[in-house]
Amino acid sequence: MTKENIVLVGFMGCGKTSVGRNLSYMVDRKFVDSDAEIENEAGMSIPDMFLNEGEGYFRIKERQMIAKIATYKKSVIATGGGVVLDQQNVEALSETGVIIYLKADIEHIYNNLKLDTSRPLLKTENPYETMKNLLSNRTVIYEQTADIIVDVTNKSIVEIVDEIKKIVEG
Ligand code: S3P
Repeated sequence: MTKENIVLVGFMGCGKTSVGRNLSYMVDRKFVDSDAEIENEAGMSIPDMFLNEGEGYFRIKERQMIAKIATYKKSVIATGGGVVLDQQNVEALSETGVIIYLKADIEHIYNNLKLDTSRPLLKTENPYETMKNLLSNRTVIYEQTADIIVDVTNKSIVEIVDEIKKIVEG
């Protein structure tokens, strides 16, 4: 693989962080999580940032962080689910990394997120419907952005990591 980084994209709850952390260990690269970096830099959680400053503020911070992380070398990068909505993010990440979309179906995502309260975009009256609509709007963007699509539905983290390792080590 000629590109320096492995970039994981996909919807909330598809396993980007868990897969990324495990994968980085298996392929001996650094692990970077864009949401965690944004939280560290701001000294504030993402739910608090949405609540206090609004989504627009978060997206600005996210764009700045992606521009920085995209310059890293030999890293596995887990991104937030909305990173691909910004073309500037996509261009920066694809310049230095191979982009892998962890594609999960709605049931898989719902199962992973149903007890989770850390996703501000899902704090609605009907989180399942919100997820379904967001996923259906974003799927085409994830697919167009990706160099590689890995179906993660009903697979374990170990299986997914193994599959990606084989692809990148080709
Ligand atoms: C978001 C996904 C979240 C986080 C923020 C917005 C989105 O990251 O960046 O809540 O727009 O899909 P995860 O994909 O890690 O949940």
